[in-house]
Amino acid sequence: MKAIGVNGSPRKKWNTATLLEKALEGAASEGAKTELFHLYDFNYKGCISCFACKIKNGKSYGKCAVKDELTPLLKKVNQADVIILGSPIYFGSVTGEMRSFMERLLFPLTTYTDPPGSLLSRKVRTAFIYTMNVTKEMMKEFGFDKHIVLNEMLIKRILGASETLCSYDTYQFDDYSKVYAPRFDPEKKAKVRAEVFPLDCEKAFKMGTRLVRELK
Ligand SMILES: Cc1cc2nc3c(=O)[nH]c(=O)nc-3n(C[C@H](O)[C@H](O)[C@H](O)COP(=O)(O)O)c2cc1C
Repeated sequence: MKAIGVNGSPRKKWNTATLLEKALEGAASEGAKTELFHLYDFNYKGCISCFACKIKNGKSYGKCAVKDELTPLLKKVNQADVIILGSPIYFGSVTGEMRSFMERLLFPLTTYTDPPGSLLSRKVRTAFIYTMNVTKEMMKEFGFDKHIVLNEMLIKRILGASETLCSYDTYQFDDYSKVYAPRFDPEKKAKVRAEVFPLDCEKAFKMGTRLVRELK
C-alpha cells in the first residue's frame, strides 16, 4: 500500500508540511509506504487545454500528455492508494501551485458525460489538509469554506472519496515582532500554536491511519 502526500506550500517545514508529515506517519503506522512531495520543488504549469487526454482512442486518453517536471509525480500519484493533498489558503483558495497540480491530476480523469464521470477504476482514499490564518468563524464569514466544499466535491467525484482537515489561526512568522502585522496578537498566536496545533497534528495522524484502514 502506498500513501503519498503533496505539499502545496512553499515552506517545507511549516504548518501544512507538518500536518502532511503527521498524516503520513499515521498511514505508515498502518503499514503503508509513504512519500512526501513539495510542489515548489517542481517546475511545471497547469492544464494547457491541449485536450490530448480527451481524444477518442488517443494514446493519452485519460492521461495528462504535458511533459514537464510534474509528469513523474503525476504518475506516482496516479498509482498511489492514499493521496493526501495539503495547501495553505492564499487569498481565499489553495496556492497557485496546488491549483495547477489539481488541474493536471483531475482534468484527464474527469469525463464530459452527463452526469460528469471519472475514468478512475481503482479504489483510492484521499484527503485534503488546509491551513490558514483565519479562525473557523472567519473562514465561513469570508466564504473560504465554499472553495473547500467545492474541492471536496470534485475530488469525491473524480477520485472516489475525500475527507477534509482544516487547521485555523496558524502561526505564520518566525518572529512576530519583526513584521508589520498589527492585526495579529502574537501571544494569542503562540497559544494556538502551543495548544491547538498539536491537536490538529493528532487529527492528521488519525486521518492517515483511517485512510489506510479503509482500504484494507
Ligand atoms: C500570499 C499569501 C496569502 C495568504 N492568504 C490568506 C488568506 O486569504 N486567508 C488566510 O486565512 N490566510 C492566508 N494566508 C496565511 C496562510 O494561509 C497561513 O499562514 C498558512 O498556515 C501558511 O501555511 P504554511 O505554514 O504551510 O506555509 C496567506 C499567506 C500568504 C503568504
